Amino acid sequence: MKFFIHTYGCQMNVRDSDAVAADLAAAGHVPAESEEAADLVIVNSCSVREKAEDKAIGKLGLLCAGKKERPGLVVGVMGCMAQRLGETIFARVRGLDFSVGSRAARRIPAIVREIEAGSTRIWFPGELSDFNVPHGHFNCGIGAYVTVLLGCNRHCTYCIVPDVRGPEYSRPAADIVAEVRALAEKGVKEVTLLGQSVLRYGLQKDRVWPDDGPSSGSAFTEPFPRLLEALSRIDGLERIRFTSGHPAGCTPELARAYRDLPKVCRHLHLPVQSGSDRILKAMRRGYTAGEYLAAVDRLRASVPDVAVTTDIIVGFPGETLEDFEATRALMRAARFDNSFVFKYSPRPGTPAARMDDDVSPEEKDRRNKVLLADQDELGLANNEAWVGRDVEVLAEGPSLRNAERWSGRSGQNKIVIFAPRAGLSTGDLATVRIVRANPQTLFGELVPADGGSLETASQSRGA
Ligand code: 5AD
Ligand code: SF4
Repeated sequence: MKFFIHTYGCQMNVRDSDAVAADLAAAGHVPAESEEAADLVIVNSCSVREKAEDKAIGKLGLLCAGKKERPGLVVGVMGCMAQRLGETIFARVRGLDFSVGSRAARRIPAIVREIEAGSTRIWFPGELSDFNVPHGHFNCGIGAYVTVLLGCNRHCTYCIVPDVRGPEYSRPAADIVAEVRALAEKGVKEVTLLGQSVLRYGLQKDRVWPDDGPSSGSAFTEPFPRLLEALSRIDGLERIRFTSGHPAGCTPELARAYRDLPKVCRHLHLPVQSGSDRILKAMRRGYTAGEYLAAVDRLRASVPDVAVTTDIIVGFPGETLEDFEATRALMRAARFDNSFVFKYSPRPGTPAARMDDDVSPEEKDRRNKVLLADQDELGLANNEAWVGRDVEVLAEGPSLRNAERWSGRSGQNKIVIFAPRAGLSTGDLATVRIVRANPQTLFGELVPADGGSLETASQSRGA
């Protein structure tokens, strides 16, 4: 069949969709150029906010309604919302062929076979203890996501993730190292290690490192820094990123890994969610605003130039103007390089869903806009501090807005726009001198590899 996967949600879902694509291709199916050209469409769904679920349900409804004109079309759903709704989804989406839970995506090719043989309405929940998670790679460019930690044990009161992705499980380090080595052999230059709380890698009570990982001669004792060290030794791999962090994982050993392992990019995504101690407690985040800031300050003190980005929720139940101002103050104190701001959305079954969702939609919207404007100011100040400095950029190719310019990312994960020189290839590391900045982007000129002057660089550009 010709398949198309429509992905909502986070990088974890992007990762899972690519692994399912690899499995489907291995089973003899081929990717369709578009959703319209496909005869198997899978929606990989997200549950993190109600709006994300509404989008997936809407999409599935349209696809199934379109079956009248497209006989033989198979429509399936996977991911977090599929896990949350279980079999009830068949009542909400008439004509849906199959639904697969979060940790069962490896079953999809077998389910497609059953559908082809005439089965209908297949629900495969997958045990949350059953790690039927695919790890193949399909659309590999110069960067790839690699899942290292599944699920989450934190149980923040607003969050649906522990319900839909199950308890925390660290993949064996040897599997991860083998996967990244194979990617590097295929030309991948940068990997992003994924986990809901990635710094907790290897810390689960039932999994004792280094039973399942390379350990000999390691300079590190903590599992996550040790994993970074093992991956750093892989030839051809240039950069290692990871997301998301929690202040509890910001240990001196992590700082040492950033400092001592040149492939580890100096960027940490460290969701704070709120700057009010009262709200942080109600969210059950496990730190105070002061503790969060102290973790950021410690990291900055020992890792020069580390970029810190965050997630913030506005309008959590009971969030007063005073709480909100505390969040603004924390943002300023933390000088974030970027912030993703979300309006609180009650998720059924979570502890926060039993609290009064008392901040009006208009007020959530207003607070959201205020924080985004604050972040623009912070982002501009942070980015302007790079003007006049040289950054190492992993060249990605022509930028979307202006094909004569290339874009890439610095170690700090900032988008850098520059004029290419002849012979520059996607996946090359290049040095760019920053000449201009806006809140989201840096602009610069290539610095020639021989250390010559910038004029030489601009001349060779015309060649
Ligand atoms: N409502 C709004 N935002 C949420 N997030 C998680 N759960 C919710 C919710 N119920 C946000 C958090 C998290 C990001 C991925 O989504 O900020 O870090
Ligand atoms: Fe990702 Fe969370 Fe959405 Fe699941 S619910 S796709 S883990 S953001």
